Amino acid sequence: MKKISFVLFLGLGLFGLFAINGCQKDSNSNGYKGLQSPSLPASLYSYSEIDVPIHFNGGFEYGPTGNFDLTDAGATLGRVLFYDTKLSLSNEVSCGSCHHQSKAFSDKVALSEGIINNRTPRNSQAIINPAMEQTYFWDSRVSDLEEMVLMPIQNHNELGMEKLEDLVTKISKVDYYKPLFEEAYGDETVTKPRIATALADFLQSMFSADSKHDKAMIQMVQTGTENVFSAKELAGKAVFEESGCNNCHGGPDLRGSWGDDWANIGLEMDYTDKGLGEEGVIFGGEGAEGFFKVPSLRNIELTGPYMHDGRFNTLLEVVNHYNEGIVAHPNLDWRLSEGFGGEGPSPKRLNLSNIEKEDLIVFLKTFTDHSLIADERFSDPFE
Ligand code: HEC
Ligand code: HEC
Repeated sequence: MKKISFVLFLGLGLFGLFAINGCQKDSNSNGYKGLQSPSLPASLYSYSEIDVPIHFNGGFEYGPTGNFDLTDAGATLGRVLFYDTKLSLSNEVSCGSCHHQSKAFSDKVALSEGIINNRTPRNSQAIINPAMEQTYFWDSRVSDLEEMVLMPIQNHNELGMEKLEDLVTKISKVDYYKPLFEEAYGDETVTKPRIATALADFLQSMFSADSKHDKAMIQMVQTGTENVFSAKELAGKAVFEESGCNNCHGGPDLRGSWGDDWANIGLEMDYTDKGLGEEGVIFGGEGAEGFFKVPSLRNIELTGPYMHDGRFNTLLEVVNHYNEGIVAHPNLDWRLSEGFGGEGPSPKRLNLSNIEKEDLIVFLKTFTDHSLIADERFSDPFE
């Protein structure tokens, strides 16, 4: 493949695009990424051969389609698109700006910065086995992955390319995309559905199942024991179960059962962001104030700040909320209530000791999949 480097002169109407042949690298001195060619492996990485370990076979569906549906060339193109700042109106932001591999594809701030310093109204979600999710976003407002991936591109706070036709035109002019589209789809033509499928292929390929918790679940299926856990981790597991955390965060991905679940966990009496109770949310309605999708706890050690608005910085703050901080919102989930009196639900108090809190957090850290965050296949090809 011929290597071509690009320098994009922004704001220079005369030459939109100025190509330099050869192996010269963009100096990148302006701090923008995605202005040089990505560096990709000589032969495609394998993305499509996904080994789903045995503990996922317990009635848990593999996503809405019931299966992975991706190609290696599609995911390779998707990887480049995911990290390319050309996907934004300002050429400064990519999907990877708010979804860092080192943070299990979330970021480290409560609200993320998109184009022109706009902040997202919610906390950037970690991307956790998206092929196995039934719905996406904190309020479950979309259920199709290929539809989902185009939303941040158009969102004015995120990538700001409101007209996708403009993105198609822009990408069509970039030489390094030509062979990538050709390999994925048989010719160089850039289209909206092709962009969407490639991004969805890449997301689906991010399959994570290599945490200590996974190893313990596999061991349990195979031998009926789980001695990969230390005594402290087992103590934490008992606290997790006795506290009823697994009533919501369950299964191999520690997320809502039946593929999805929503709950009001009593964060505040009058929710600023009403979640599923916001107008226009398909599953919601007025009565759903404070309902948010039950997130997966896989990789939770890496994905703070926590909750839909990033209000908690540490896992201890989260545990303290469940232990003693739940407020008596009329919609408070029954799994976090002691019972319903005349005044509405009464928040459950866990009364955990400091040691129990510590053990619980040690257990939560067994959900971290270190191989996902070290996997070259998911890394930024522009770095
Ligand atoms: C400016 C920051 C920002 C950018 C850029 C961004 N995202 Fe996000 N992403 C978010 C936020 C914030 C949410 C949660 C939004 C909500 O629930 O309303 C989110 C949610 C998601 C989710 C849902 C995860 C789940 O479990 O439901 C996926 C998948 C995702 N983004 C992928 C992408 C892709 C692909 C791109 C690029 C096309 C992208 N994001 C660009 C901030 C960003
Ligand atoms: C009734 C269901 C339910 C129960 C029980 C429950 N959770 Fe949650 N959990 C949720 C929901 C819903 C959210 C997201 C709430 C929001 O952002 O408004 C959440 C969020 C979290 C988060 C932050 C996730 C993120 O990505 O920001 C952590 C950590 C967490 N829960 C841990 C626990 C622990 C530990 C327990 C047991 C002490 C527990 N949960 C019990 C439903 C539940």
